[in-house]
Amino acid sequence: MAATPAGQHAHWSSRFAFILAAVGSAVGLGNLWRFPFQTGDNGGSAFVLIYIGCVALFALPVLMAEIAIGRHAQQSAISSTRKMAQEAGKSANWAIVGWVCTAGGFLILTTYSVIAGQVMAYSASGFVGGFSQPDGANLFYQGEFTQLAWHAGFMIITVLIVARGLKGGIEQVATILMPLFFVMLIGLTIYSLATGAASEAIAYLFTPDFSAVTGQTFVAALGQAFFSVSVASAIMITYGSYLSKDTNIGSSAIMIASADTLVALIAGLMIFPIVFMVGIDPAAGLGLIFTALPAVFADMPAGNIIGGAFFALAFIAAITSSISLLEGTVAFLEENTSFSRPTAAWLLGFFAFMIGAGAVWSSDFGGLFVDWLSGSFLLPLGGLLVAVFAGWVIPRSLMRDELSHASNGLFAFFHFCVKYIVPPAIGFILLLGLDAKFNGGAFGSMLGLG
Ligand code: PHE
Repeated sequence: MAATPAGQHAHWSSRFAFILAAVGSAVGLGNLWRFPFQTGDNGGSAFVLIYIGCVALFALPVLMAEIAIGRHAQQSAISSTRKMAQEAGKSANWAIVGWVCTAGGFLILTTYSVIAGQVMAYSASGFVGGFSQPDGANLFYQGEFTQLAWHAGFMIITVLIVARGLKGGIEQVATILMPLFFVMLIGLTIYSLATGAASEAIAYLFTPDFSAVTGQTFVAALGQAFFSVSVASAIMITYGSYLSKDTNIGSSAIMIASADTLVALIAGLMIFPIVFMVGIDPAAGLGLIFTALPAVFADMPAGNIIGGAFFALAFIAAITSSISLLEGTVAFLEENTSFSRPTAAWLLGFFAFMIGAGAVWSSDFGGLFVDWLSGSFLLPLGGLLVAVFAGWVIPRSLMRDELSHASNGLFAFFHFCVKYIVPPAIGFILLLGLDAKFNGGAFGSMLGLG
């Protein structure tokens, strides 16, 4: 089924196909589920501003670096970082950069699929009128075995697409679903702004209130930026490896990061008017879209259809992201073992399913631990390593060659960020996160960031 003859690396059909697939990867549950609850948990507008800063200063330069590394070496993340380090006369052990990122991406997939399964179940509930029955949002999501079945179903769809390969699978799905996603997003947002508490939502999202900012706001904003832009998880190196030499990486990266940020803000404008309309606490945590929204859909005109459509939208966003999460590890296995692409996809899909299954039984493990491990630890660490790699390990001239279309100004910004801004800033934020987790935040409070 692999569309590419052995020994030859697949390529996107066009730059547009790459952008759609990369935006498809970036736009996901991170925008529709994680961004709203992180914003709610971290006090609203100040978080939004810090988040945008993290995207521009940290996630965008790392994204450029990753696409450039992948395009240069034309291999999976682990092999690409090894190859490029060796080419620069450095140790092959720099492949650790690829390993950390690949592990982070794989780990995200495990619980991502559980949440996406819940999204599918809620969409189905909406379309059969479930939201207007007491506890009806859960209609199709009761009991652990049902929950496992949805998780399995979502993972199987992901595997089936990835097994079909780059052009017949990933690219085709992105080109069909992403335009549909944007049309639905705009439609639902207009509806929500027209019927919900629009001005309250806008004030909540965009009137800066810095009194709520602590060290943890930065930890959360950074983790969210990396998660949402799909960096530090091997995906963008892998997707970059399918690019041809004439693609402008700088402008592509700017488009991907901007589209993702715009969708997060629009998602905020879609969700918070509804949340405020009935006075639900925006800091309802992980369950914000699963508990707060269905309660509101129950009382809205055509709430079942709107609710079903909202969760269908989230499903579309999720599937174009989960295929990228699986692709990162499948590309590695396909390249370094004798497994065919379908075998690699089924095998890794099965392992990811098994780990995710643990989350169905223990939300502490799934919701909290895995989310912490990937969002607050592996992603920042991976991003830090990518930046050190691109800024310090690989010579500036080699990065310049790969980013040859970028203007001098953009390249200078990029190189300054990966060399001097990203490593110390992320190192510090990583420390704050570990301090909060294992040390009760003592270090943060000592610095007045408690
Ligand atoms: N960016 C995706 C989202 O917002 C999740 C993701 C993270 C995908 C990392 C790939 C890599 O939902």
